Amino acid sequence: MTGAVTLRAAQPRDVPAIVALVNGYAAEQVMLPRSAESVELALDDFVVAVDARGTVVGCGALKTYSPSLGEVASLAVAREAHGRGLGRAIVDAVEALARSRGVRELFALTLTPRFFEAAGYAVTDRVRYPEKVRRDCLACARRFGCAEVCVRRVLEAEVLDAAA
Ligand SMILES: CC(C)(COP(=O)(O)OP(=O)(O)OC[C@H]1O[C@@H](n2cnc3c(N)ncnc32)[C@H](O)[C@@H]1OP(=O)(O)O)[C@@H](O)C(=O)NCCC(=O)NCCS
Repeated sequence: MTGAVTLRAAQPRDVPAIVALVNGYAAEQVMLPRSAESVELALDDFVVAVDARGTVVGCGALKTYSPSLGEVASLAVAREAHGRGLGRAIVDAVEALARSRGVRELFALTLTPRFFEAAGYAVTDRVRYPEKVRRDCLACARRFGCAEVCVRRVLEAEVLDAAA
């Protein structure tokens, strides 16, 4: 990875890099795989972190379940870029996207709950999100031995005029 990293909305040319990043971790069974088609269809929901050479070194997406409920999905940072605050920055960007769309409650299913707890999320029970369970968990090969932990955060309303 080279130089400064910037965050931006995903563009069509990022699709292969997003798929490679996510599916690299999916092969290690730490996240769900994504097809290129599913990323293309959800491109407006993705943010990417890009290094100085334009290489995608991280990604994350807002997956919406209702007008007020969303999931922090497909969150991945390239191994060589870990520990530099990129994961947290991507979560912040997904939260900003959620706020801009009126989504106030976010959840994630994760093997790294402490990462999310550091970002203000609290551990909860996934039964709170039956639509997620129906869409992703019921067909998952690991459904009887799933080690993922559900975390959630209710986004505070933005303080628009703190100085007033
Ligand atoms: C989880 C992941 C996104 C974190 O990315 P990252 O860029 O290394 O994380 P950051 O540098 O932003 O770390 C933010 C904070 O979380 C902590 N953290 C990061 N990874 C952690 C982990 N695996 N376990 C516990 N805490 C972790 C950091 O110590 C840091 O805490 P601090 O603010 O007190 O220093 C990255 O490890 C990853 O891509 N993992 C593989 C895919 C995955 O598990 N995705 C999540 C699926 S929901």
